[in-house]
Amino acid sequence: MAKPLQIMETVLRDGHQSLMATRMRYRQMEPMLASLDKIGYKALEGWGGATFDSCLRFLDEDPWERLDNLKANLKNTPIQMLLRGQNLLGYNHYSNDVVEKFVQHASAHGVGVFRIFDALNDVRNLRVAIKAALACPEKPEVQGCLVYTISPVHSNETFVELARELQEMGCHSVCIKDMSGLLAPYAADDLVRKLKAALDIPVELHTHCTSGFGHATYLKAIEAGVDIVDCALSPFSSDTSQPCTETIVAMLKGHERDTGLDRQAMVPIAKHFLGVKQELIKEFGLKGYFDINVNVLDFQIPGGMLSNLANQLKEAGMEDKYQDLLDEMPRVRADAGYPPLVTPSSQIVGTMATFNVMAGERYKMVPNEFKDLVRGKFGRTSVPVDRDFITKTLKIPEDQIIEDCSIEDAKGQTFAQFKDELINKGFLNPSDEDVLSYALFPQVAEEFFKKHYKQITAYRK
Ligand code: CO
Repeated sequence: MAKPLQIMETVLRDGHQSLMATRMRYRQMEPMLASLDKIGYKALEGWGGATFDSCLRFLDEDPWERLDNLKANLKNTPIQMLLRGQNLLGYNHYSNDVVEKFVQHASAHGVGVFRIFDALNDVRNLRVAIKAALACPEKPEVQGCLVYTISPVHSNETFVELARELQEMGCHSVCIKDMSGLLAPYAADDLVRKLKAALDIPVELHTHCTSGFGHATYLKAIEAGVDIVDCALSPFSSDTSQPCTETIVAMLKGHERDTGLDRQAMVPIAKHFLGVKQELIKEFGLKGYFDINVNVLDFQIPGGMLSNLANQLKEAGMEDKYQDLLDEMPRVRADAGYPPLVTPSSQIVGTMATFNVMAGERYKMVPNEFKDLVRGKFGRTSVPVDRDFITKTLKIPEDQIIEDCSIEDAKGQTFAQFKDELINKGFLNPSDEDVLSYALFPQVAEEFFKKHYKQITAYRK
């Protein structure tokens, strides 16, 4: 007997991150939490990714309080979060004790599934977070990710190798994380079959409909035996978001992988979130709907970012260079050792390509982040970067090349140092959670604390 397909629902995180710039507020979620909790989802993604930053920066919400509220209202369904390994939810690598503290507190506040990834698929960047999550007394599920990409040096075999390593590290499940919708249906069929044959733990698939493959890719993956797929309720599905929950449920009705979920029970929930979507479009002046962009298959840069780069060219009066930029992107990616393009590597490669095109000369102006990427500060690239490229073209001294980034991470600012810094700014007795918010987003968190000091901590002034 085939096992029923399980669904992980993303309406509370990736759905609005992908379509609505992560602007959904907790109060817009709350009325539907009891109903969502009854559906029978494998998990509800509700925290992590860009939500933490967005809460503090745009929505005047404490992300920790949001997590507590979600937990209080979701009695049956685990809350899932997306965590960028040693990057946590910020844009730097953090020291190990900051990573451990963050994971411990997230678990204590109610995260039931930690989905952990590294932009470069360097397992050294996953190890600390995975180990910390495995040690949490609440016994959360720990899921390791394969960040999916296409390049001359990636194949389904290399992803299977990585998955084996994640299983050996103790992960309870693995996820194919296809953030740009590059995974084609037949490639998914092959990859899922290989993973199912090689692993003893469940395999989950996460895609986006950016290129238009989404629903077809899921069907082939389901036939190949994938255990869980990530879907979003209709108003927050498709386009640059996940395939649609109701569609997948209906598609399998009466077939051997039938989800057993009640599609009618989703009708009022979808209706509520359609209203939320309309509110968000109006309040934040968002676009809300996106066309399918098959070009992502060639450039791998997600659609939103491509339009940002095009705007940069336009502002510089170089609109006619757009095609040059599209041609330059894959060349820069090759020079940088074929990193998967996901935050933050997508921005780094995209910006470097734009600089090359605008300067009319390759690597004349080189942003520090690009130097850091090729000298190994963020971890190992998919293939080693050419030495001459690093030392001659980019003029990076030999002694700045980093072989093991975890040694660098160990020198990073510690939790105690972040705490002292916050106290020295006048925020007495900050909670661990406040220190973590501050470590991740210093300026934004400080602004937030100033506004809410009475609730948060004793403020000297
Ligand atoms: Co995603």
